[in-house]
Amino acid sequence: MTASRITPAVSRRSFMRMAGVAAAAMPIFTEGHLAQAAMQTAAPAAAPKRPRRMSMTYPEGAVIINANENPLGPCKAACEAIAAIAHKGGRYDIDGETAKLTTTFAKQNGLKESYIAVYAGSSEPLHFTTLAYTSPTRGFVTADPSYEAGMMAANVSGAKITKVPLTSTYAHDVKAMVAADPNAGIIYICNPNNPTGTLTSKEDIAWAVENKPKGAIILVDEAYIHLSDSPSVLDMVAADKDVIVLRTFSKVYGMAGIRCGFAVGRPDLLHKLDAYGQNAMPITGSAAANVSLLDAELVPARKKIIGDIRTDTFEWLAKNNYKFIPSQSNCFMIDTGRNGKSVIAAMQEKNVFIGRTWPIWPNTVRITVGTADDMAKFKVAFKQVMDAPPAPVSASLHSPYEPVSFPHLS
Ligand SMILES: Cc1ncc(COP(=O)(O)O)c(C=O)c1O
Repeated sequence: MTASRITPAVSRRSFMRMAGVAAAAMPIFTEGHLAQAAMQTAAPAAAPKRPRRMSMTYPEGAVIINANENPLGPCKAACEAIAAIAHKGGRYDIDGETAKLTTTFAKQNGLKESYIAVYAGSSEPLHFTTLAYTSPTRGFVTADPSYEAGMMAANVSGAKITKVPLTSTYAHDVKAMVAADPNAGIIYICNPNNPTGTLTSKEDIAWAVENKPKGAIILVDEAYIHLSDSPSVLDMVAADKDVIVLRTFSKVYGMAGIRCGFAVGRPDLLHKLDAYGQNAMPITGSAAANVSLLDAELVPARKKIIGDIRTDTFEWLAKNNYKFIPSQSNCFMIDTGRNGKSVIAAMQEKNVFIGRTWPIWPNTVRITVGTADDMAKFKVAFKQVMDAPPAPVSASLHSPYEPVSFPHLS
């Protein structure tokens, strides 16, 4: 059936509900898509309306601290592995690169290999898990603010979406989340949280696991776990709990453009994701991820580099009396005391691209920790913007990038 044959009485959402698994055909959003969607423009009419892919290029010399990427990129061993394997790219994975990666991760984390599913990044398993475990009768519960991609997939599956504000210490309010929807299919816990970089204790996550509604899963997104001092909950997976953990190589490992990630869970839980998509892995992604895991120095070294730059930025913010939320990740939030979108636009005028706002906190912007040089430029531009009177918020501050209409995105 083509879209043009659908009668106007059938909304897109009800069509997707009727189509069941066909809902998986909806776009899968990454942080890169969301960052570009939030970029402001002075000429919205001239900009493309619905790009199928990320299509924005940045001006020469731009400081890009809007998508929680890692400017350090893949480590040396990963680059060498990519170069060494590229010539075999005419075939699928005939040397078992993805199997080798699975074995490494399983051994390092005390898991059986059948508990690990490898994907080209963690956006796919986040999307597929949400489609598999939410429906018009099984809701999606998330913190507010938190990473929106799962919520966007829940929107596709027609699920009730419940947003529960973070606690006063910016942790997930697990008791309120569990109580929020007795028919929840997923309780999504992003730890450390995107955008705040704040932590939820393992005890709290364990409490949610033990007290969640029957039939629900706890989806723990550990995209940023290596940047923090937080313990992982992979041991809950090993203990066969109703938990799926997501991991990505896009953050500490610097491989957002190379693509690799995991869903980790009991085989019966993971099996449900298979109906929504099973693409082949790029052998470059698997090979680079495997050697990255085998480099024991990599995570501590990068955690220190990013942590030191973050601390220096926090010291500067505090000295200048700017309000920010201390974070344990590669991103943090600043309360600008004025419309955050106008700050984003003013920073962009200075060729500094910072992250987006969330509807619950319209004055607060997310900043990704870049290189020391990036942050030096950020400081100069941010002070200039904040020293100037707030710009009026005009109609031009609407993003031209509206891949699909999502009321949850500001
Ligand atoms: C919390 C969280 N989960 C998942 C992802 C998806 O990342 P990727 O698909 O690059 O692995 C991101 C990206 O920034 C994220 O912030």
